[in-house]
Amino acid sequence: MDLMEYQAKTVFAKHGVRTTVGEVVTTPEEARAAAEKIGGKVVVKAQVKTGGRGKAGGVKLASSPDEAEEKAREILGLDIKGHIVRTLNIVPAAAIAEEYYFSFLIDRANRNYLCIASAAGGMEIEEVAHTNPDAVAKISIDPATGVDAAKAREIAEQAGYPADVLDAAATEIAKLYEVFLAEDASLVEVNPLVKLADGNVEALDGKVTLDENADFRHPEHAEFADASAEDPLEAAAKAKGLNYVKLDGTVGIIGNGAGLVMSTLDVVAYAGEEFGGQKPANFLDIGGGASAEVMANGLEIIISDPQVKSVFVNVFGGITACDAVANGIVQAFELLASRGEAVDKPLVVRLDGNNAEEGRRILDEAGLAGLERVDTMDGAAKRAAELAAK
Ligand SMILES: Nc1ncnc2c1ncn2[C@@H]1O[C@H](COP(=O)(O)OP(=O)(O)OP(=O)(O)O)[C@@H](O)[C@H]1O
Ligand SMILES: [Mg+2]
Repeated sequence: MDLMEYQAKTVFAKHGVRTTVGEVVTTPEEARAAAEKIGGKVVVKAQVKTGGRGKAGGVKLASSPDEAEEKAREILGLDIKGHIVRTLNIVPAAAIAEEYYFSFLIDRANRNYLCIASAAGGMEIEEVAHTNPDAVAKISIDPATGVDAAKAREIAEQAGYPADVLDAAATEIAKLYEVFLAEDASLVEVNPLVKLADGNVEALDGKVTLDENADFRHPEHAEFADASAEDPLEAAAKAKGLNYVKLDGTVGIIGNGAGLVMSTLDVVAYAGEEFGGQKPANFLDIGGGASAEVMANGLEIIISDPQVKSVFVNVFGGITACDAVANGIVQAFELLASRGEAVDKPLVVRLDGNNAEEGRRILDEAGLAGLERVDTMDGAAKRAAELAAK
């Protein structure tokens, strides 16, 4: 789960990281009141779970409560990479002397933790990583020994932070590592970590990703789950226990097994090029032993996405044989019709593997409206893309 900036800073503060949480508001009037309360210049910051807010006009300085209200009005409702701004963080304007980049993350390839840090922080860090990779330090962290005061100091040095901030930066780095470990985060990123005019070092921004597999030992993280910020279809799928991720294409995808679904996404994207760039609309793995109900729930989610123009059901029969899946599809059509959600989009089904022939026979006999059977994965992907383009 990704946290918004103000939530990340709340977590930082809990572990003693120097940061300013500020006020969280949702209307221009509240922004004005927050600015009055804080006093002096403030920064109005869009709270969305994506990067590049500043460049998109989502971070603005305001010199007065009037101006804070005005900037809030400009930023609220802004679309930042598909994320609509509904929440703002109002913080006192900091006297920034320098901006650095800092992060802890999981280094899966090396089964290790990794720290990425640079003295060239701020909004251009992606550009720096590209044009001047030597300015970005990558420091591996042994999870067995972690980050103590000495290691934190070593990290600050390797990052190339200036000598006068090494002590202050090391203090924050050790606490950020505590955040990373204690909160079961898979990412803790601070950009910018700043040197203030008074020499202190502060986390001015925060990005934290929490590992949901560790939710069971963090009941306190439930407060961060913001159902309204989630995609409504993803939320509905989650409520039904489905493994669903919304994407932005037009071809709905249902498959059994994550590997098969992943390769289906590739095949559909490739086939779609021929038809004006049709792309997968989602990832949905209904798992090995998919029942009719799971199939019905999956279909219901996918057809209720207005972006979906066609659906590709790609099943490889294994332990669950194709005839069982075919029966599931037939029953799913009946179940959806009875819920008043009849399948009204073209469906292409490919069945292969265990008992494929029996499965195909069941589908043919059922004669479901709008359902076509194509027996190869490439052929079915192509047909689904073609139907989506119509
Ligand atoms: N409290 C503040 N006081 C003064 N300047 C600030 C403050 N917060 C942010 N800024 C300035 O705005 C810039 C962008 O802010 P921030 O890092 O929070 O957003 P961003 O980097 O654009 O977004 P993201 O991190 O999501 O890509 C900072 O690099 C900093 O120069
Ligand atoms: Mg930033």
